Amino acid sequence: MKYLLPTILVLSTTVCFTSATLSSEPAPAEAQSAKTCGEPTTALPLYRMFQATVPARAYEIDASIITANIAKSGWALETVSAMAFASQKESTVPFYHLINSALRANFWTINTTERDAAVRAGYTVGPDLTYIYPTQICESVPFYHASGSANRDNVYTTSEAEYLQFVGQGFLDMGVAGYVLPFNAIQCA
Ligand SMILES: *[C@@H]1O[C@H](CO)[C@@H](O)[C@H](O)[C@H]1NC(C)=O
Repeated sequence: MKYLLPTILVLSTTVCFTSATLSSEPAPAEAQSAKTCGEPTTALPLYRMFQATVPARAYEIDASIITANIAKSGWALETVSAMAFASQKESTVPFYHLINSALRANFWTINTTERDAAVRAGYTVGPDLTYIYPTQICESVPFYHASGSANRDNVYTTSEAEYLQFVGQGFLDMGVAGYVLPFNAIQCA
């Protein structure tokens, strides 16, 4: 935990500078964006955590949940997987968190059919909702999904190379889970 907090602060600081830069620039697409897109400056880092002993990965915006997980059971902050919304914005849909504690399985989906099937199979929907785009609009990029370790280790990434690397290692190719704002594109130079 001692090493984590400075890490989060560094990441958050980067995002803060970015927000300031974005909001002071009158982007050409802004008028259209206001009607059909979530305001990009309100998107937050969706942190990716890794738990090596399961192994499992988890995705959270809320820093208090992240620090609790890390303090509790050996989770480590891995990266910022994307920028996502903490509340529902224009054209976004919930990125449901499905949890099966008995199986230690954990995955995310925007697909309500998949969500309902998982609930019938014993998963519960987590309260920690994030929101992403269901189609590639608003300068979003694909959020690729590869699934390993019997649905315990679900990798969601904006990097096609990383996704293909996991599929190459034997993870199931789950395709595109939805569309997110890339972290790198709005990072400060
Ligand atoms: C949602 O999931 C179901 C079951 O896996 C699948 O048949 C369907 O095509 C999916 N819908 C979309 C829009 O991807």
